[in-house]
Amino acid sequence: MFLDVSGLTIVYVLIEIQSMKRPTIESILKEKRLFQPPAGFSENAHIKSLEQYKQLYEQAKADPQGFWADLAAQELHWFEKWTQVLDWQPPFVKWFVGGKMNISYNCLDRHLTTWRRNKAALIWEGEPGDSRTLTYAQLHREVCQMANVFKQLGVQKGDRVGIYMPMIPEAAIAMLACARIGAPHTVVFGGFSAEALKDRLVDAEAKLVVTADGGWRKDAIVPLKVQVDKALANDGAPSVENVLVVKRTAQEIKMEPGRDHWWHDLQATASPDCPAEPMDSEDMLFILYTSGTTGKPKGVVHTTGGYNLYTHMTLKWAFDIQDTDVYWCTADVGWITGHSYIVYGPLSNGATSLMYEGAPRPSNPGCLWDVVEKYGVNIFYTAPTAIRAFIKMGEHHLLSRNLSSLRLLGTVGEPINPEAWIWYHRIIGGERCPIVDTWWQTETGGFMLTPLPAATPTKPGSATLPFPGIIADVVDLEGNPVADNQGGYLVIRHPWPSMMRTVYGDPDRFRRTYWEHIAPKDGQYLYFAGDGARRDEDGYFWVMGRVDDVINVAGHRLGTMEIESALVSHPAVAEAAVVSKPDPVKGEDVVAFVTLEGSQNASDQLKDELKQHVVQEIGAIARPGEIRFTDALPKTRSGKIMRRLLRSLAGGQEIAGDTSTLEDRSVLDKLRGGA
Ligand code: PRX
Repeated sequence: MFLDVSGLTIVYVLIEIQSMKRPTIESILKEKRLFQPPAGFSENAHIKSLEQYKQLYEQAKADPQGFWADLAAQELHWFEKWTQVLDWQPPFVKWFVGGKMNISYNCLDRHLTTWRRNKAALIWEGEPGDSRTLTYAQLHREVCQMANVFKQLGVQKGDRVGIYMPMIPEAAIAMLACARIGAPHTVVFGGFSAEALKDRLVDAEAKLVVTADGGWRKDAIVPLKVQVDKALANDGAPSVENVLVVKRTAQEIKMEPGRDHWWHDLQATASPDCPAEPMDSEDMLFILYTSGTTGKPKGVVHTTGGYNLYTHMTLKWAFDIQDTDVYWCTADVGWITGHSYIVYGPLSNGATSLMYEGAPRPSNPGCLWDVVEKYGVNIFYTAPTAIRAFIKMGEHHLLSRNLSSLRLLGTVGEPINPEAWIWYHRIIGGERCPIVDTWWQTETGGFMLTPLPAATPTKPGSATLPFPGIIADVVDLEGNPVADNQGGYLVIRHPWPSMMRTVYGDPDRFRRTYWEHIAPKDGQYLYFAGDGARRDEDGYFWVMGRVDDVINVAGHRLGTMEIESALVSHPAVAEAAVVSKPDPVKGEDVVAFVTLEGSQNASDQLKDELKQHVVQEIGAIARPGEIRFTDALPKTRSGKIMRRLLRSLAGGQEIAGDTSTLEDRSVLDKLRGGA
């Protein structure tokens, strides 16, 4: 539901966008610097020049089916070839119809007959300093064992498996084991609460949950198994029959007889032989829940063949992955970035993917740079929030560390402000590493707008140009392209292989959310990304941020209504409206305006209690930075909360735009007075 957007002009949207990101957008609008690919970089690069990129782009535009079919045949293993490349019944798409393949085979088995058999597939560094390296042969063995354990626990092709894990190799092993036997996984980020985990397990009707006793994060143990117990208590997720528990932190936990099983016990007798199940190209590979504009997160469905191809190609070309590279993406496997660019994309390419368990922590804020130095990391991929946090930490953490192995840097998750981009380039990249700013989403499966490092001159703050095969545009609500440098809605014109297929169990929601905001034009359906953008005179895209009720806190996507539902579930709260305000490190922070039930008194203690309540309901990532109590919320005469006004108030800005539809002007005056 787009409370603020429907029926409004693009000018208004730009005001909205600007007010959401005031400290950074103005500098982005003025940004003019251009950085050429470094000399010598193109010599070994997969895509060597801007001309080559343009030629691929035009080729894909002229014949998308031929373009993707050729790559699918060259780059992947198929048990059986497809009979039809594309079946597009808007908004539902199928790619490589009739093809049979297995992504776990493409990520593992096919490398075993090559020299890569004994190459490091995963390098893992635990937060306390323990580490493990798994070669392709070793990873294959463990995946097969876990797949056999899944079967032993009654999981069959098509059954869903919940994965609620710390960042340890078994998280990737569990995903690949699911893919191997055709059981779609749903990975739930380990920072989500028991309540959020339960909702996802229920929606996906998961049969098995894979978890760990705990995981390390910021010098503390995250008690994952305790959360699983809470989620499953009182038959919370009745579909779950078994829980497989990996021992990581070895603290005391409760094991429920008959339901809970230690992985190491079952692994001891599990066969390392488990042939990969031939899957239909369009068989579901995973469901990943993401926040939208309504209270309930939606299950984004990705399928097998197109997703495999697109994550493979984007990693290969945009990160120019080479056999000698140690590649490190700092995301968590609980997000799409972890799925596509820690596990599937890198392993399908036979690359070495580094996994790190924790986060910069009080006892060693520079720990990430120790990891870069220890393993000679060549490609480093992180989020602008992390970069801004590094800037804040100070450069002294870097002085004693040798970062000269780095050759390429990436960023994702939120718009990067040019200041952070330049710092990343100068201080981390030593002015020699290209930066690939990748714009994409859970729904797109892989990079959509991104530089190719040896081809695309970069501009700080711009995700530059579309990947070959992606026809991106900036349009108004009628679907008309807007002029250069005018703000509008970012859309994609032609289906691409890793496009989400549907919302799990709710195809209507899929249609409504992504395909009905912009009117189809000349029979062409446009994918509506939910982001505002502009395109400059060189065709470069500048993504400005969300234009819907989704906010982006530290690169994490949260629905305002999701947080509002959590707040009103507290007995003291009558009504809540959540907006974001700009934050120098996190990009945006959550501000909640709350009215209380009659008998309740506003107090700092209650503010803390409500913040904690949101943590309980969703997880620490959604904790409001600020709660403001108010007697009433500003509403239109038809009862809609005017979030635009709240956003201005939260950001400490003057109220701009029309306020004539406000039902009671005194509400605004009181709020201004600093309720
Ligand atoms: O608003 C855009 C922002 O993150 C949203 C997608 O969030 P999620 O599905 O959680 O996936 C994050 C990782 C792919 C987008 O709608 N976003 C992502 N990358 C960028 C970005 N905004 C600007 N620049 C980016 N590079």
